[in-house]
Amino acid sequence: MNTARRRWLAGILVAALAAAGAGCAEEPSNRPPPTLRAPDVPYEPAAPAVVNEMLKLGRIAPGNTVYDLGCGDGRVVIAAVRDYAARGVCVDIDPRRIAEARANAAKAGVSGRIEFRNEDLFTTRIADADAVMLFLWPEVNLALRPRLLEELKPGTRVVSHWHTMGAWEPERTVHVSARGRSRPLYLWTIPRPEARPVFPDAAPPRRP
Ligand SMILES: C[S@@+](CC[C@H](N)C(=O)[O-])C[C@H]1O[C@@H](n2cnc3c(N)ncnc32)[C@H](O)[C@@H]1O
Repeated sequence: MNTARRRWLAGILVAALAAAGAGCAEEPSNRPPPTLRAPDVPYEPAAPAVVNEMLKLGRIAPGNTVYDLGCGDGRVVIAAVRDYAARGVCVDIDPRRIAEARANAAKAGVSGRIEFRNEDLFTTRIADADAVMLFLWPEVNLALRPRLLEELKPGTRVVSHWHTMGAWEPERTVHVSARGRSRPLYLWTIPRPEARPVFPDAAPPRRP
């Protein structure tokens, strides 16, 4: 585990202990909304240029259902709805992110076409997606890969910002310059069940 991740995990632990301690002293009505569990990946919003390029790469068409698994402040699904006449599903395990996403969607006038789910991306329903957007971590992509291949319909596009899917080769890779770095974006299309690839690098099954 690298230092950044160790620090992030330590931060989560300290926050959880502080929340537990604070919870004893507070009236129940003052408590923040319950968190399902700590996020698998810390929040980092994608740059606007990355958001635009992800939607282009995912070939979003009017009426498509676009998921962002770990949607943060909702910027990807909001842009899909606003700029491509799609409908969006914004899934985040952190209730603060879902509250921000709701507020941002209301500001953009697109709340009616977005479903907000404070849920775990490993258990939320995904079968009706036409495109799935991801900005996670490599091991989370790997753990999610079997769900994507088994539950998404053939032809669904999967776009990942920054991280690959291990041995599942992307069909396209583009690079976007944002915040002083060249950022890779990867595209896969869900194949028919009989053409599903088998991988040597399968991740152990994930328990939510
Ligand atoms: C790097 S941010 C990406 C935010 C947004 N997709 C974007 O591109 O701007 C990752 C997000 O995933 C969320 N997340 C992490 N683990 C999750 C899980 N198991 N289920 C749902 N959301 C999760 C975090 O709360 C965070 O908002």
